[in-house]
Amino acid sequence: MINKYPVITIDGASGVGKSTLSYAISRKLNWNFLESGYMYRIIAYYIVKYNLSLKEKKITSLLPDIIFNFKNTHRCIKVFFQNKDISNEIHSEKISIIASKIAVFPYIRHWLLYKQRKFRKFPGLVTNGRDMGTKVFPDAVVKIFLKKNLLERAKRRKLDLKSRGFCISKKTIINNIKDRDNRDKNRILCPLFPAKDAIIIDSTSMSFQKTLEKSMDIVYKKLLNKPKIL
Ligand code: DC
Repeated sequence: MINKYPVITIDGASGVGKSTLSYAISRKLNWNFLESGYMYRIIAYYIVKYNLSLKEKKITSLLPDIIFNFKNTHRCIKVFFQNKDISNEIHSEKISIIASKIAVFPYIRHWLLYKQRKFRKFPGLVTNGRDMGTKVFPDAVVKIFLKKNLLERAKRRKLDLKSRGFCISKKTIINNIKDRDNRDKNRILCPLFPAKDAIIIDSTSMSFQKTLEKSMDIVYKKLLNKPKIL
């Protein structure tokens, strides 16, 4: 049977605010939520924890050992690995860089594709990442591609890292963002780009509330045909 539960995808580069936005949309609709980047980050965490080299064959053979689960606290998503809360650790710069490096490996993407699609459940799914609208859920009813300029992204990333206990200079953050953008946009498989039917929102000079409002307008218009209730 074809899975008809509706999906909303929010794709974009790192630090554009897609996690906060998509989580807020999922809470408003009371739909399921998936932060696909967490899956890549958990694999990166495993690589760091066991000091593995970045060889696709080796990582691939260990994938079945990587058992994780997500817990929705209704304020945020917590990530557990072997019953340990690793929600903050997976946001370190080291993990971010490794996550973007392993995201080029075809088998890993393929393995995650099926895991990601399993989140499509009643009554619907709001998800974010790089290829959610182009590859994972090409039939999504609403596709938003979020943009923000580099400086704003670095500012957000610095604040986010600080709140998680990491103190990194803005210069390093900017350089890391540029490197990750480069890898995410130029890889052969599922590179970061807007789906043909995606609506592009540039939130550089928009408050979060305004970005959410605009997104909910799109969602209600496209999907629920309801007036805005913010
Ligand atoms: O969204 P994020 O910054 O947490 O993602 C971390 C890395 O994972 C990102 O640099 C590339 C990879 N990723 C991906 O390739 N495809 C996705 N749908 C989500 C993340």
